[in-house]
Amino acid sequence: MLIRVKKASDCSESEVIDESVYLNRRQFMKVTGGAVLGAGTIGSVSAALQGGNPLVPSSSLAPAFQNIIETPYGADEKAAPFDVATSYNNFYEFGYGKNDPKERATQFQTSPWTITVEGEAEKTGVFNLEDIIKESMLEERIYRLRCVEAWSMVIPWVGVSLGDVLKRFAPTSKAKYVYFETLYDPKQMPGQNGNGLDWPYREGLRIDEAMNPLALLAVGMYGSVLPNQNGAPVRLVLPWKYGFKSIKSIVKIRFVETMPETTWSMLAPSEYGFYANVNPNVDHPRWTQKQERRLPSGVLFPNVIETKMFNGYEDEVASLYSSMDLSRFY
Ligand code: MTE
Repeated sequence: MLIRVKKASDCSESEVIDESVYLNRRQFMKVTGGAVLGAGTIGSVSAALQGGNPLVPSSSLAPAFQNIIETPYGADEKAAPFDVATSYNNFYEFGYGKNDPKERATQFQTSPWTITVEGEAEKTGVFNLEDIIKESMLEERIYRLRCVEAWSMVIPWVGVSLGDVLKRFAPTSKAKYVYFETLYDPKQMPGQNGNGLDWPYREGLRIDEAMNPLALLAVGMYGSVLPNQNGAPVRLVLPWKYGFKSIKSIVKIRFVETMPETTWSMLAPSEYGFYANVNPNVDHPRWTQKQERRLPSGVLFPNVIETKMFNGYEDEVASLYSSMDLSRFY
């Protein structure tokens, strides 16, 4: 059964996926209880990082970046409207409703922001975000985001290659995986006070996945700084994996020797794997992954499309998994 909604910008998760899928996932959670950024446009990011997120009203989005390196990624894609991408979010630290993060993250402090780097690397410590992200590295990449809940969007991100950043910490030969953690601050993040996920939100990648050129450390979208609800000030974007791997508001990076525990696979290992590569041939135990609703999508005329292997990024990432049987769940 599908639920009617009034307009695309108001769309709820239940608009785009079967209601039982939506309710089941929520139900499940209930019961289980270098360079300083310089002048120019990057200055506005710097300002953002130092003085709060200057997200302009969605109706008058002002670009915050100039001189972003254009890349061929997604040049032929039609991006979702900004309002949809910023009001239909999963950021459970701010609530489980799709519009909750936008409503509840307005006061979220994203500056100053530090990232602790630890584990199997030569350069570890606490770094200011603006010392990690270099203006000259900022690229725009238009990627498809495919949520495990079977909806998807095309989003133009602004960020830097994750691998380029990680290499600067000189991971040792023992660094087989890399672990990421979101801020834990229940005072600011009301969702962390409730039952549901085991906070802080945790994610991980095999080191070669993290080094793949597609992996992005994003600080912006639609040419401007990341809205809080989209994971400000810095998040992962891993377009060949289900969206839950793209962890938001990162405060910790740890290089480790063994596969780290991750939030969703700890909660439900048979439903959310560590790898979580988009795979239309392996259904979620409770719903199909063969198709997806590409947002914006109406109820009467849902925009249903076929899901592609690795979300269509097979050429770029399939070699990472050549030794795996892709008909199995990982
Ligand atoms: N990161 C944190 N810290 N908390 C979350 O709840 N949700 C994930 C991912 N990153 C999540 C998160 C899920 S399920 C998805 S689909 C994407 O963020 C959604 O990103 P978006 O809201 O920018 O579209």
